[in-house]
Amino acid sequence: MTENIVWHDAAVSHNDRVTQKQHQPALLWYTGLSGSGKSTIANAVDRKLFELGCHTYLLDGDNVRHGLNKDLGFNDTDRVENIRRITEVSRLFLDAGLIVGTAFISPFIADRAQARELAGEGFIEVFVDTPLEICEHRDPKGLYKKARAGDISHFTGISSPYEAPEKPEVHLKTDEMTIEQAAEQVVQYLKNKGMIP
Ligand code: PPS
Repeated sequence: MTENIVWHDAAVSHNDRVTQKQHQPALLWYTGLSGSGKSTIANAVDRKLFELGCHTYLLDGDNVRHGLNKDLGFNDTDRVENIRRITEVSRLFLDAGLIVGTAFISPFIADRAQARELAGEGFIEVFVDTPLEICEHRDPKGLYKKARAGDISHFTGISSPYEAPEKPEVHLKTDEMTIEQAAEQVVQYLKNKGMIP
């Protein structure tokens, strides 16, 4: 695929871009079941970081599936490709020096490990740990009901697996905290690591 294609070095380097900002680049990789609160928490963190003067961007599951990944469904092969593309897009934003948030179920350990490897030291896995019973009870989009009725196939947690992180950098037990507390835990992690002022 890359035959006859030559890499060009950029006139403005990655280090130039990072030096211009007040923070380190980072990839906040939120993972959790549908309805776990990934998007809500990722947005709350994004707002806080923005107000601290950080240069951020958020990639959100449903939104990305309306555009870049609208050709993909939810069988295992498509989910792997979904996460592969998100990882590559995130790398571009990291190269630009941003703090990137990605809010995708990203159910497979191997795909998240691949994202970690490609992203490098700025990768931060944020486990939005909301038990299936709670997600199903919330059912904000009515999808669990449809999945139980057999109207949606390959539904995560019902008819498709979710492999929970073993050692996430940030573990949010959402049944024990508010959205505000969850967002603050993520921001504090970045502060403690000296990645943001
Ligand atoms: S994945 O597994 O990372 O590729 O999924 P993701 O791109 O994050 O998309 C998840 C959202 O798609 C909706 N949806 C489904 N989720 C899981 N399984 C099936 N079969 C499915 N079909 C549609 C659902 O609204 C998810 O949104 P969130 O925000 O996670 O609730």
